[in-house]
Amino acid sequence: MLKNIVMLCMTIVSAKAQRPYDEAWHRRWFPHSPNELDNNPVVSDGKNLNDVHHGIAMGVVDSSCDDGKTNLQIDWYNNEENYTCFENKSLFLPRANVHPIDSVEHIPEAYNAQHKCMNESITYNEIIPTFGTHRPLWAVYGEYIFLPRHRWLHNLEHGAVAMLYHPCANKNEVNILKSLVKSCLYRHVITPYNMLSSTRPLALVSWGHRLEMSKVAPAVVIDFIKKHALRGPERTHKNGQYDYGLKENAQPVSDMDDQILCPKVSGGIEMK
Ligand SMILES: *[C@@H]1O[C@H](CO)[C@@H](O)[C@H](O)[C@H]1NC(C)=O
Ligand SMILES: *[C@@H]1O[C@H](CO)[C@@H](O)[C@H](O)[C@H]1NC(C)=O
Ligand SMILES: *[C@@H]1O[C@H](CO)[C@@H](O)[C@H](O)[C@H]1NC(C)=O
Repeated sequence: MLKNIVMLCMTIVSAKAQRPYDEAWHRRWFPHSPNELDNNPVVSDGKNLNDVHHGIAMGVVDSSCDDGKTNLQIDWYNNEENYTCFENKSLFLPRANVHPIDSVEHIPEAYNAQHKCMNESITYNEIIPTFGTHRPLWAVYGEYIFLPRHRWLHNLEHGAVAMLYHPCANKNEVNILKSLVKSCLYRHVITPYNMLSSTRPLALVSWGHRLEMSKVAPAVVIDFIKKHALRGPERTHKNGQYDYGLKENAQPVSDMDDQILCPKVSGGIEMK
């Protein structure tokens, strides 16, 4: 418990005070340490966000690159394990004494995520990535049977919040979190994610930020959404094109631009 509080404090301190170029930097380097080979695509100074910065234009349905239908198995083999609980559910029980972890990844302003076509695989170093290379077509907003991170990362770049839950997470907690997210903002996606830990099987992710939880703390969830939603580098409410596995479309909450986040919820209690 103490360790978690310390971790939480450390992330807050590192977010506010530390910068990667501080001499005393003991954390991870972004995107690579000074002596490491940099394999990242070169960032260009061009003004055309779509083509120059990402390599491949976003949102263009093109069967030779990404039409949201062809070669989807490169990102996900359709395995049941990704959305079904095959583990011991009692390991995933919500615990009030397990504190949420709020972590931040420092993303330099000059960083531009690359778009890769469906003929090339994309790997991620983090279990819960908060930025990175992704597919040109982003996900239609809403709840999914399963949505690969290659898609939801693109939504985060547009200011969305992704809700992830382990398929074995407690159903009641999952439902509480789902209803909070759905009543906070239109720009959300919800999907199971079997790589979350049994200790914290619930997560919210926005561009550069993640919140991992054992049990839903509504005030923490609302605070996270209010602070970190709509902050991606390319803010647009334009809906995505990819809808494989979509169960339910997102509904507008305040308006399409989510001008008021979480308008009717306060600490999880619906206000009249
Ligand atoms: C993948 O397809 C795109 C668009 O058709 C092309 O520009 C790119 O070179 C291809 N990549 C590989 C590794 O074949
Ligand atoms: C599906 O689950 C397997 C096994 O945990 C994992 O290796 C794989 O990355 C998951 N796929 C996706 C798209 O998350
Ligand atoms: C599931 O995990 C709990 C807690 O660790 C343990 O007591 C129980 O025996 C396990 N059940 C099975 C079927 O493995």
